[in-house]
Amino acid sequence: MAKLLCIQASPRGERSFSTAVADAFVSTYRQTHGADEVLVRNLFDWRLPEFDGLALQAKYAILHQKEHSEAERAAWQAVTEVTDEFKSADKYLFAVPMWNFHLPYRLKHYIDILVQPTLTFSFDPQTGYQGLVTGKPAVVVYARGGEYAAGTPAEAMDFQSKYLESVLTFIGFTDIRRLVVEPTLSEPEAVARTKQQVMEEAARLAGEF
Ligand SMILES: Cc1cc2nc3c(=O)[nH]c(=O)nc-3n(C[C@H](O)[C@H](O)[C@H](O)COP(=O)(O)O)c2cc1C
Repeated sequence: MAKLLCIQASPRGERSFSTAVADAFVSTYRQTHGADEVLVRNLFDWRLPEFDGLALQAKYAILHQKEHSEAERAAWQAVTEVTDEFKSADKYLFAVPMWNFHLPYRLKHYIDILVQPTLTFSFDPQTGYQGLVTGKPAVVVYARGGEYAAGTPAEAMDFQSKYLESVLTFIGFTDIRRLVVEPTLSEPEAVARTKQQVMEEAARLAGEF
């Protein structure tokens, strides 16, 4: 039995395009992978631990091979609970809106908690950085108000997919598949058609994921 972790990063509920596409994926996945566990987390409904001064001290203590103080240990424990849940999955689905050419801040917060030495990456002075989340596929659903197609001038402003995929690659992912729903801020009938097409694509991908 495998576990699919679905991370949603839109607060827009039923109006969200990324969530609708991810829901289509999950719905087919449940039908085609009946024995698997599916965990859905919406980052706007989930109170993540702060990644503040204490958590940073705990992170730097590890980087500098120092023991944790009592307070740092508690802060690190809260971080570890989030990374443990993330690593407990076998497959990942991310539903990601574009905000200001990048990610919604709650997803950045999640990433700041996830990307940790010894938990999701390691460092060796001889060999450098190595990702520790390996052998697990991911699907990312990107929703954008505008269009950022490869080869167009707008592509340079797509820090959403470049950043997310760089971070996922840094922590070890090598199999990252994309579903793109754009431009969502366009003429409503055309948008509804695009949404429907990408939902169908998501359902197809889910069946073989
Ligand atoms: C705070 C905010 C910033 C946005 N910035 C951009 C942007 O930089 N480029 C863009 O194409 N669309 C932008 N949009 C539009 C969203 O990408 C679009 O509405 C998308 O459908 C959001 O995903 P969702 O429907 O899953 O919530 C922004 C929307 C919000 C709320």
